[in-house]
Amino acid sequence: MNVTVIGCGYLGATHAASMAELGYDVLGVEIDTPKRESLAAGKVPFYEPGLEDLLAKHVASGKLRFTDSFEEAGAFGDIHFVCVGTPQRNDGLGADVRYVDAAVDGLAPYLADGALVVGKSTVPVGTAARLSEKLSQKGGEGAELAWNPEFLREGFAVQDTLQPDRLVFGVASERAEKILREFYAPIVATGTPVVVTDFATAELVKVSANAFLATKISFINAVAEVCEAAGGDVVDLADAIGHDDRIGRKFLNAGVGFGGGCLPKDIRAFLSRAGELGVEDTMSFLRQVDDINLRQRTRVVQIATAMLGGSVARSRIAVWGAAFKPHSDDVRDSPALSIAGQLHLRGALVSVYDPKANDTARAMFPTLDYAESALAAARDCDLLLHLTEWPEFREVDLDELGETVRRKQVIDGRNKLDLDTWRAAGWIARGLGRR
Ligand code: UDX
Repeated sequence: MNVTVIGCGYLGATHAASMAELGYDVLGVEIDTPKRESLAAGKVPFYEPGLEDLLAKHVASGKLRFTDSFEEAGAFGDIHFVCVGTPQRNDGLGADVRYVDAAVDGLAPYLADGALVVGKSTVPVGTAARLSEKLSQKGGEGAELAWNPEFLREGFAVQDTLQPDRLVFGVASERAEKILREFYAPIVATGTPVVVTDFATAELVKVSANAFLATKISFINAVAEVCEAAGGDVVDLADAIGHDDRIGRKFLNAGVGFGGGCLPKDIRAFLSRAGELGVEDTMSFLRQVDDINLRQRTRVVQIATAMLGGSVARSRIAVWGAAFKPHSDDVRDSPALSIAGQLHLRGALVSVYDPKANDTARAMFPTLDYAESALAAARDCDLLLHLTEWPEFREVDLDELGETVRRKQVIDGRNKLDLDTWRAAGWIARGLGRR
């Protein structure tokens, strides 16, 4: 089976390289010229551990090539994966599916008879049925659609693609199921569970998974505020409730909340689509999940203001972390950068350091100051904020740091620092929802 991957961002580039690793000949379609040229040269235009090695390996072996031509893709592929982005719309909360439509429209006239088009992008429920109809009008003889949502996490993208927790096949025919089972046979053979279902369920699985994860994080962040009010400790609490198998410890880390290219926009799109379907009331709790999440950013600004005596203006604040999470250079909807920006707009002198995301952060927020190391960011600061939990921040020499800063004050926005050790070294140290 020859494979094409339409759209080579985080999802598509990872899928393309991973499918080449499974042994397929893969053609990636990317219309952004700098991105395509970078990929074709074996260079990943963003930071994702392990991906560059895999990409370079298969560009060199000839199993992975890139083009901007739908005509070439149609002639080459037996199975076509649609991996384009579905960002939040500029005019509302819903997902913008124009790139998904453009991919199917671009490919349809060139599809070979019997080709299978497989959607992986996160879309509002109902999109697959609409695209399937479009394909049956414009595609080749017997060309059909399937929906196979992707659950990869940034930072673990290759591992999540090659060893997924589960595979979900949204199909309208036994033939489509058979093709997908055959295609993913090397992964299924390792014991990966497969759920075969209809288009609507497959689309809803993805947004429900992300809505559930977002709800779990906002739940613990809400409880963190109660802990703070009552003198409790949210980390001990999360450990204790996490021992219950039914609850589980994962995604119960209280802090500055969730960001990135998926969770925030997916819960808003889910809410928006529920409204279109006439069931908005039942999903309205997601509005609170979003509000609680955004509130964490404001809380940190408030705590920082209080620690600096009622105003942050003219104070020096060091921000450790800019990416929305560690092991990524992605700053989309990043809590760290949002907090840094809010403090800067209130007159603070903010110096940011992230091990991988300084450049992406600078491109999004050029007016902040960016430092080349954790210590350089902290030079002469009145307050240090730990906002993305990169391991190197937990390894900093506290004696050296203590001599670098002006005032020994820290807020741990990720609840990952050992506050007792910091306090023993003379710091005023605050977590979120911690003693
Ligand atoms: C997420 C989903 O996990 C993935 O399955 C889906 O395909 C895409 O969206 P990703 O955005 O890469 O993946 O990051 P994830 O690891 O889920 O973290 C999301 C955000 O939640 C990050 O900002 C992270 O810092 C935050 N988070 C996570 C918490 O604040 N607390 C936690 O306990 C866990």
